[in-house]
Amino acid sequence: MLLGTTAIRRLGRLAPVLCVLALVLSGCTPDHYPQTALRPLSDFGRIGDDIQTTTLKWAVVVFVLVEGALLFAIFRFRGKPGDPEPKQVHGNTTVEIIWTVIPALILAAIAVPTVRGIFETNATPGPDALEVQIIGHQWWWEFRYPSLNVTTANELHVPVGRTVSLKMRTADVIHSFWNPRIGGKRDVFPNRETRLWFKAEQPGEYPGQCAEFCGIQHGRMAFRVEAQMPEEFQAWSTHMQSLKAPAAAAAPAPADSVHTASAGATVPSQNPSPGPGDPLYATGEKLFMTKGCVGCHSLVAYQAPQGMVGPNLANVGARTYIAAGTLKNNDENLAHWIMNPQGIKQGVLMPNLGVKPEEAKALVAFLRAHQ
Ligand code: CUA
Repeated sequence: MLLGTTAIRRLGRLAPVLCVLALVLSGCTPDHYPQTALRPLSDFGRIGDDIQTTTLKWAVVVFVLVEGALLFAIFRFRGKPGDPEPKQVHGNTTVEIIWTVIPALILAAIAVPTVRGIFETNATPGPDALEVQIIGHQWWWEFRYPSLNVTTANELHVPVGRTVSLKMRTADVIHSFWNPRIGGKRDVFPNRETRLWFKAEQPGEYPGQCAEFCGIQHGRMAFRVEAQMPEEFQAWSTHMQSLKAPAAAAAPAPADSVHTASAGATVPSQNPSPGPGDPLYATGEKLFMTKGCVGCHSLVAYQAPQGMVGPNLANVGARTYIAAGTLKNNDENLAHWIMNPQGIKQGVLMPNLGVKPEEAKALVAFLRAHQ
């Protein structure tokens, strides 16, 4: 009894610590972490989350029962001085069968949804799915929509409510495509296609990340899934299809289209950036062609050339980030990046080309107009 009272007193002293701990842990809500897998927003993400929840429930039941039995045994059967040796149960067949069968049943209860989840997540999506080809590069992501004939980089636009079928490979080393809220994680290989599918459930911008060490800038290989309502996605894809190669852009373009690299077609009225008629834009365009930028980057999204070394820049002016999530896409950062990519993202394929500040300003004006 004396020992029991001491234990209760000790627990009482721990109470304030436990209260503070509970308070701290209550701050760890998934809402504060955009890359949480605990709040899935797609059918694919929900499959894994359900398995995790099921496993956690079983773990809690096992924990409560085992720890309860342990505590009960500690207090109920505590030895006193002078007690005889307790009865030995080693080799008791009944007990051994019980503690073999119960865990086996629990594991079976976890295995059934797990195996089902494995098959579900590896299923091939139906013909209605929107196919996106994903190519991992050191250190950025290329996204191609074969049915739309559109190419973009680092920002994956998808329609809400429609299954998206990702077919993935890489141009160099192994990467891993991971968007925690939308879908699971899949490694991406140079010589083998891996697949992933998901159906986004609500619009929003969801950050993702390369999840396989792929070189010194592995940590700066982020991307975003931009889930849009079907009509917004339709408008986006129509807009991207208007970003054509110069020859194709000579044809009449939709009213909301923007100019292309050198054709000087049209500029949207809401676009505050300099257009082809602007001297700064013209200087930037000339620099883009002469400084070597054009050797690695394409400025057309529709029927874009394949196998380009650098990200497609057709709508770079409208993107949220540059350098695969490294910098916010504003004029200052873009100029900084153009002048000193190696200082910002050492080892990246884009070399420092000796661009002067005034040249960078012109290049920014040119690129910003590509929306
Ligand atoms: Cu790509 Cu890590």
